[in-house]
Amino acid sequence: MATDLNAFLGAARERVDAALDEFLPNEFRIDRAVRYCVFNGGKRVRPCLVYATADALGIARNEVDAIAVAIELIHAYSLVHDDLPAMDDDDLRRGQPTCHIEFDEATAILAGDALQSLAFEALITLSKANQRSTWVGQLARAAGSRGMILGQALDIDAEGKPLTEEALESMHRLKTGELIDACIEMPKALIDLDSQHDDALSSYGRALGLAFQVQDDILDVVADTSTLGKPSGSDQYKHKPTYTSILGLEGARTKLSDLHQQATSALQETPFDTTILQELANYIVERTH
Ligand code: IPE
Ligand code: IPE
Ligand code: MG
Ligand code: MG
Ligand code: MG
Repeated sequence: MATDLNAFLGAARERVDAALDEFLPNEFRIDRAVRYCVFNGGKRVRPCLVYATADALGIARNEVDAIAVAIELIHAYSLVHDDLPAMDDDDLRRGQPTCHIEFDEATAILAGDALQSLAFEALITLSKANQRSTWVGQLARAAGSRGMILGQALDIDAEGKPLTEEALESMHRLKTGELIDACIEMPKALIDLDSQHDDALSSYGRALGLAFQVQDDILDVVADTSTLGKPSGSDQYKHKPTYTSILGLEGARTKLSDLHQQATSALQETPFDTTILQELANYIVERTH
């Protein structure tokens, strides 16, 4: 991994962790459950993408802290609910018992609900007035019933069923891609961009969002539980249609490499310093957990 990227990741993670720690309440048991789901070793890929987009566009990091915090909170909520017995029924996340195992199922449901509300509260509280309504709309759409939730609903419906590659792609774009797109689109909303450069950055986000879930599907097959920090083979166990089940491992790897190439080409169409965005694309396809 490039040293530049290591330095960037360290600084971005420290920055979002400090903002999360300052923002999240810590009084009641539910607050402890919420914090348990946030401070348990997530890679913070989405906040890193937010800060890298801001850096590339010359936007100060403090202008996008609200976005980084809000998106990470939505992501944390999505994982708590994704792991519930009624959904993927997984008992390990980031190397620790999932929230419903460590606490109880009712608390995990409520912690997810709280994380979602807290995300929008963070977006309002930590930002300046001028961008708030745009951002709230963007995040609500990305996370909601025409975004991540629709993807999750399709995922649950698809258990045990074969899907066409087209249907799989659209499910993955929704359940994982939409929130990753928001990491690019929300900082972008702060400035006026030439439409060609705007579109190129959006193409990068779209390619990366899908690539992220393709690699997640691959890791479910090839990585072991201790490296992953979540149960390896969970998709096969639940008979989920995934890139590996539909295209095979080699087919999934080819798809991943095509998407990586698409993300790279998109960045080359912009005049910005996109070194770190490129490094993040490399990291996302090469990651081992
Ligand atoms: C896992 O996301 C769930 C998916 C959307 C594929 P991450 O791999 O970003 O999870 P953490 O936050 O690093 O644990
Ligand atoms: C998770 O997809 C997508 C969301 C939580 C929105 P997965 O179910 O594949 O994620 P993991 O593998 O449990 O992290
Ligand atoms: Mg799932
Ligand atoms: Mg899951
Ligand atoms: Mg998975």
